[in-house]
Amino acid sequence: MTADLNALKTDILHSISAANDIGQLEETRVAALGKKGRVTALMSTLGALTPDAKKEMGQALNILKTEISAALDARAALLKDQALQVRIAAESVDITLTPRPQPQGSIHPISQSMAEMMAIFADMGFSVAEGPEIEDDFHNFTALNFPPAHPARAMHDTFYLPDAPPGEAGNNKSGEDRKRLLRTHTSTVQVHVMQNRKPPIRVIVPGRTFRSDYDQTHTPMFHQMEGLVIDKATHMGHLKGCLIEFCKRFFEVDDLPTRLRPSFFPFTEPSAEMDIGCDRSNGGLKIGRATDSLSQSWLEVLGCGMVHPNVLKNCGLDPEEYQGFAFGMGVERMTMLKYGIPDLRTFFESDLRWLRHYGFGVLDQPTAVTAV
Ligand code: PHE
Repeated sequence: MTADLNALKTDILHSISAANDIGQLEETRVAALGKKGRVTALMSTLGALTPDAKKEMGQALNILKTEISAALDARAALLKDQALQVRIAAESVDITLTPRPQPQGSIHPISQSMAEMMAIFADMGFSVAEGPEIEDDFHNFTALNFPPAHPARAMHDTFYLPDAPPGEAGNNKSGEDRKRLLRTHTSTVQVHVMQNRKPPIRVIVPGRTFRSDYDQTHTPMFHQMEGLVIDKATHMGHLKGCLIEFCKRFFEVDDLPTRLRPSFFPFTEPSAEMDIGCDRSNGGLKIGRATDSLSQSWLEVLGCGMVHPNVLKNCGLDPEEYQGFAFGMGVERMTMLKYGIPDLRTFFESDLRWLRHYGFGVLDQPTAVTAV
């Protein structure tokens, strides 16, 4: 009996180690331990034995089963490992290949300029405010002291939008004031800020603005940087000092000639435009002081003025108590002047060669960083 079992065991273990894949191994398992397997068949003969023989044979068969199961498991683990090694060898990548070049982005000159402007004004104690690009006539014109039918409204080449559905913002106003439009300047945010904050106010407003105009110096969408300062004793001297300091730092020219020219905006009184000096010698254009007075000329860079008392009133502030100044500049224009970019339209063409040429590295700091 034992000799028979030993022969059976040798035979089964042999076929286990001869199985070359998981399929063959499974066939071997079924042939030994399956329902009609050889070991199972022996188990079913136990019933006919005497109790002693039954005990002895039962124990022997159980040991055999355990040994076969262990051999099956070991062989299965080995075969799986071998299969894995074959896959790894077949699927390996050649890491010595040079990688494909990854396209690298760059910072658009508009973003760079805005970051520089914000860095300078932040040093002077300004914080950043923002407002909606879709506005109503009240915030864009009426509150800013543009009388109804005033020609300055027409000058703005406004994009009007369909009326707001009932219940939406703007509907608490009457008639014209409710008309929706794309803001034509960031001065709209002056109104929001004065309505919602208590002075002292010192904010700058970077943002997109829209006018229906398109040629070499105008695009329907462009960017402005607005400034607003409101306090009890703010005067024109503060305006002048703040803007001269800003221009010197933005253009990185310490000895920068500047001048204020009288101008008109409905929302400021008095109003002015600020010019910076440039050197036009040898047919060029360089920002700064020229060595001979014939080469010295002026470039307009921004509009500014003392906030009109009507605007303060329209925004809920008492002009007897508060006053302040505002200014606004075109970011594209400032960028073209600083970085020598000749055509405004190229800013929005998404030409990668242009961006590679004029763009800034991701890790570039604004050039106008704080002097410690
Ligand atoms: N909003 C004016 C414009 O777009 C600029 C400006 C702002 C002028 C603030 C004076 C004060 O032309």
